[in-house]
Amino acid sequence: MQSNPGKPRVFSGIQPSGGLHLGNYLGAIRNWVRDQDKYDNIFCIVDLHTITVPQDPAALRENTLSLAAIYLASGIKKEQAMFVQSHIPAHPELAWILECFIPMGWLERMTQFKEKSGRERERSSAGLFAYPALMAADILLYDTRYVPVGEDQRQHIELTRDIAQRINQRFGDVFTLPEPMIQAAGARIMGLDDPEKKMSKSLAGDTPGHAIFLLDPPDVVRKKFARAQTDAEPAVRFPAGAGVRNLLEIYRTITDKAWPAVEQEFTGKPYSVLKSAVSDAVIEALTPIQQRYREIRADDAALMRQLRGTADRLTPIADTTLQRVQHAVGLR
Ligand code: TYM
Repeated sequence: MQSNPGKPRVFSGIQPSGGLHLGNYLGAIRNWVRDQDKYDNIFCIVDLHTITVPQDPAALRENTLSLAAIYLASGIKKEQAMFVQSHIPAHPELAWILECFIPMGWLERMTQFKEKSGRERERSSAGLFAYPALMAADILLYDTRYVPVGEDQRQHIELTRDIAQRINQRFGDVFTLPEPMIQAAGARIMGLDDPEKKMSKSLAGDTPGHAIFLLDPPDVVRKKFARAQTDAEPAVRFPAGAGVRNLLEIYRTITDKAWPAVEQEFTGKPYSVLKSAVSDAVIEALTPIQQRYREIRADDAALMRQLRGTADRLTPIADTTLQRVQHAVGLR
């Protein structure tokens, strides 16, 4: 199953762990959509990663379908390969082999684990600790060249390269080395309530004003931006403080404007002008996505058929890599 055979392979994924926010959209999906014709793409819904922290089973099933619908509604073409991670057993199988070659110290250094486990380190699941091995398996199974993600995933892709290199050095050329593809704009969107913290699904659960969700109706988007943290100045000045910079970053990313143009547009303007401009731009981008989302969700059976069909077609590709690794290490 190849969407654009002969073009460089792109692989990326998002966790179906609840509503998608503007950070996921600007840091990842929007770039996948824009560049989809340049690459041979595989877009994954990484449900096995999601169960590394407790999930309600019905919610996980719903979030998985919802995320697939968001991919398509955002503009991923139907012919692109989009599938659910748990539908292809080679992912956890390869992850296990990789885990046996990854030193504990490498995993201990991962900032996402430190952040997610927090003070509950001893009670966190072993899955949360081993998470980067599964992510490396996702990427390496498809001989991926580029991994388009937000800035927070860079460390995981570096670990993926390290483990691939380690295995290649020991057993010969088993893996293709992937590279992160991180854009200059939108790669690290911050929380609206606290611009020192990255916009994240987990913080969004605790504070309603933290994140804009892709399915938020226009009045909610406006209200959230209206309450977004700015700074003590009466109007926009450059260099701007963290809150204002974040609003400007959202604005310039979603409108594809260059920094000088954005500076000129807002210098000396009251924050209300900036907030209403960023609300308008975000609502304009989200409205058609929300419309298409509702249309797609009207036929969940068709969506599930598409996901299953793609997994069936990708399985032989994943199995070929898995068998190559199994042979290299002596398992077959
Ligand atoms: P996840 O589900 O946390 O996030 C999905 C994508 O959104 C990006 N992102 C952001 N970008 C900008 N600003 C933010 N505030 C922001 N928050 C999230 C993430 O960088 C990511 O691109 N481990 C991955 C999922 C994964 C994966 C993979 C990705 C599993 N296997 C293989 C690529 C390749 C994760 O938890 O993403």
